[in-house]
Amino acid sequence: MHLLRFTTHSVILMFFSQLACAETPAEIYQRRVIPLLQSSKASSCSECHLQGVKLDDFLTSDPKKSFASLRSLGWIDVENPPESKLLQFIAKKPDKSSELMDQVRKSELEAIGQWIDAAVRDPDSLNVPLPKLNDLKLDETLIQHARKDRVLSRFVDVVWSQLERCANCHSPERNAKQVEKNGSKMSWIVPNSPGETLQLLEERKLIDIEQPEASLLKTKALGLDDHGGGVKFPAEGHTDREWGCFLEDYAAIKRARYKSSGDVPKFDSIRTWRTGLHLRIKELPQLPPGQYAVIRMHRINAVGMVDEEPIAIGEGRVSKDGTSWSSSIMILEPSKQRRSQANPNWVALLPEGSRYQLRWIVVDDSTSTLEKIISTRSASRIEIDSLWKSGHSAAKTISFENFEPIQSQK
Ligand code: HEC
Ligand code: HEC
Repeated sequence: MHLLRFTTHSVILMFFSQLACAETPAEIYQRRVIPLLQSSKASSCSECHLQGVKLDDFLTSDPKKSFASLRSLGWIDVENPPESKLLQFIAKKPDKSSELMDQVRKSELEAIGQWIDAAVRDPDSLNVPLPKLNDLKLDETLIQHARKDRVLSRFVDVVWSQLERCANCHSPERNAKQVEKNGSKMSWIVPNSPGETLQLLEERKLIDIEQPEASLLKTKALGLDDHGGGVKFPAEGHTDREWGCFLEDYAAIKRARYKSSGDVPKFDSIRTWRTGLHLRIKELPQLPPGQYAVIRMHRINAVGMVDEEPIAIGEGRVSKDGTSWSSSIMILEPSKQRRSQANPNWVALLPEGSRYQLRWIVVDDSTSTLEKIISTRSASRIEIDSLWKSGHSAAKTISFENFEPIQSQK
């Protein structure tokens, strides 16, 4: 910040002395600020705000009105112009920025800094009555929602957290054989980098900004589009809905479609993290093919009590012949606690030595939120003594005949 103030200040002084009061604020605005607003280069704000704030939302073609609005917002410091909030916004810089954006930021700081400095000494500009703040009210919830760091954190919560299901075939760390067979397009995960992964998915058009529901990322995983990797999670289940929500939301932000924060979709409040554990249940009592069902995993503690709160779940649909079901296991995120952006060590989250009780739930309404599924009564259960190995080939298979009915439940 100190360096920044110093730079802004010296830039302003430099221009000020060069131009020696020759230009009015309106002339400076016309000569230096307007061209920036008309330039095809994105404003510096867009590096962090994908929708909701752009410079030309605040700087119109009328310098005096813009000045009054900015003062009303509290973004101009008349006493100490280099301290103006607007200049602080412009000076914000992401960790990784391109040379082009550095240049844009520099031009904005110089031009707008010079204009502010002139306007705060100009009685005509200062005398314009300030508009009511109510008329300028920013939708802060939307601004927050459309911030790049927030978008990325939703990507991690919703999509990245499930990619263990895809990594064997789509992460360059593990997919050498797949690439040999199917080509380099197989690699679309950038290991340990959700941000670059999201960017890559968009560049490769695996996320479709025009038609988010049709994104190959999702249609392949659901097997709606022929997929070499088969069906990865059930259509209209929890993961499908959450991915749909993310894709719709991402596309709306990228296309600046939100009018207000009221348009923003609601994500499930419970987050999940996909593990490499696979579970199969066979010899089900004949169920309708395609029936959506869930297994909840509850930990059995040291004194043999079963935790009421499940620690993990699996979701899937009953096979075509109505007698088997399979899924990978997802860990439920404990109360708001954030995981690191890299893959968490899920083995530590699902303690190996523990015993677990599995509860089988047939869910008739597949639009049920996870919250509802977690609180639904189960009719059958089984205890297992330990975890099993990760990977499809090591899937644990349990016969439903070994489940016992739950008579009554508190
Ligand atoms: C380096 C990233 C970054 C850039 C660039 C950036 N912002 Fe922000 N902005 C943020 C963050 C993060 C917040 C959340 C509040 C905070 O931590 O300061 C925010 C908050 C805001 C808010 C919410 C209200 C407030 O007073 O905090 C507004 C309005 C805003 N920025 C406007 C802008 C404008 C206008 C620009 C471009 C001139 C801009 N921002 C550039 C990261 C950025
Ligand atoms: C067992 C291996 C395997 C797994 C696991 C797997 N896939 Fe695939 N996937 C493939 C193969 C093979 C192809 C290439 C043939 C095709 O397009 O279906 C492919 C292609 C794709 C493509 C198209 C890539 C392109 O550029 O054309 C997408 C998107 C995709 N998969 C998404 C997923 C998602 C999402 C997951 C995890 C939820 C996943 N896959 C898990 C094997 C797998």
